[in-house]
Amino acid sequence: MKSSTRQLWEQQDRHKGERKRLFTAVRAAVGGQTVLYPGSFVDVAASFAYPSVTYVDVDQRASRFFGDIDGVREIIASENGAANARIEFIHADYREDLGLVNRSFDLLISLYAGLVSEHCTQYLKDGAHLLVNPSHGDAAMASLDPRYELAAVVNSRSGSYQVSTDSLDTYLQPKKETSLTPDLIRDRQRGIAYTKSPVAYLFRRIT
Ligand SMILES: C[S@@+](CC[C@H](N)C(=O)[O-])C[C@H]1O[C@@H](n2cnc3c(N)ncnc32)[C@H](O)[C@@H]1O
Repeated sequence: MKSSTRQLWEQQDRHKGERKRLFTAVRAAVGGQTVLYPGSFVDVAASFAYPSVTYVDVDQRASRFFGDIDGVREIIASENGAANARIEFIHADYREDLGLVNRSFDLLISLYAGLVSEHCTQYLKDGAHLLVNPSHGDAAMASLDPRYELAAVVNSRSGSYQVSTDSLDTYLQPKKETSLTPDLIRDRQRGIAYTKSPVAYLFRRIT
């Protein structure tokens, strides 16, 4: 493995195993095989839990990281990921056409990378899921998107993750009386303050 690959991964995984626990809990809750991860940077932890992941990022360092495919496979093997995991990296802006088949993925991941759902929901199968955290406003954007319904929330306690479907109607309630619109979310490019703060949300594509 190249030393730059190792270094980038160590920085990415500085909260040791956190993302592995998150993606493992999500897969246990909603299943699936194929994942699209736009704005992934070098978060290869998705491949610890899923057998087929397509990573997308514009960053040159991410491109070099995934270019060291033997190093990436070594990282995945060290975390008991599937030895024959399918890993694809697309060096692109996710707002552009990614050359992927529409409605072909089981999970779309949106973590700290802008309004992924707005540009990439087309690639999700019907009934498939979006994992999105509240940062950058993408959870708010998904909550306004008629293609989605809230399916679960992800909470964290003592370093482990729980996926819950309890009282879903009590989530996504803004603290301030605001009339949310896609334009407002695009302008702000940050999260909305809600009365409850789960780590992340799982939305299901319904149309
Ligand atoms: C803060 S990092 C988050 C990385 C990873 N999702 C995580 O949670 O650790 C945001 C990443 O999104 C990428 N990104 C932001 N906008 C993008 C776009 N329009 N197309 C592709 N990548 C993008 C950046 O290059 C960066 O690597």
